[in-house]
Amino acid sequence: AQIMQADFIKSSVKTQDCPSDGLPEFALVGRSNVGKSSLLNSLVRRKRLALTSKKPGKTQCINHFKINDSWYLVDLPGYGYAAAPQELRIDWEKFTKDYFLNRPTLVSVFLLIDASIPAKKIDLEYASWLGENQIPMTLIFTKCDKRKKRKNGGKRPEENVNDFQDLIRSFFQTAPPWIMTSSVTNQGRDEILLHMAQLRNY
Ligand code: GTP
Ligand code: MG
Repeated sequence: AQIMQADFIKSSVKTQDCPSDGLPEFALVGRSNVGKSSLLNSLVRRKRLALTSKKPGKTQCINHFKINDSWYLVDLPGYGYAAAPQELRIDWEKFTKDYFLNRPTLVSVFLLIDASIPAKKIDLEYASWLGENQIPMTLIFTKCDKRKKRKNGGKRPEENVNDFQDLIRSFFQTAPPWIMTSSVTNQGRDEILLHMAQLRNY
């Protein structure tokens, strides 16, 4: 399931403008700065294929990357970035949600959740929106290498992950699959690639 080849294909701001060759794809979504672009780079073993930044709001389009000439990884703008201009935020929200609802080749959304901080309401809302719209989802917990100092009341990534799962259990009949990851240590990379390969072969 390793990635031998990864090529940037195009940036789109409309679902209709996305590639039309019918290949299966997986989209990375999550709060701004959660590590979507970093995860993509970790999966393809390249430092800067998808552009990353310390500042949220870096990715602003639907970016298609073709993998091994046979499927796509899709990098999306993040949600919940309060400092972005209002019109821009509404725009991102509109075209990403339109994309989720109207993209038949989308095999599964990979919803990224920051495991280094407590669960956020906006992430729970996003997970429930995907669930309500019956969009297949995999939960990817990011930044599992980051450990807060316990004396400041910080929890370990494992504890934050458990808390998040307890919270979403109330609105899912069957809990979505989940993987713990880090783009720093590459934790979870093989697990994600294997999971994607299994989903493609259904
Ligand atoms: P937007 O495109 O703005 O929505 O952000 P994004 O979700 O693509 O985040 P990006 O990959 O640009 O990463 C944001 C910041 O988090 C960068 O400073 C990364 O270096 C850092 N980061 C991403 N993944 C990890 C991780 O697994 N561990 C740690 N410690 N830092 C990470
Ligand atoms: Mg990004």
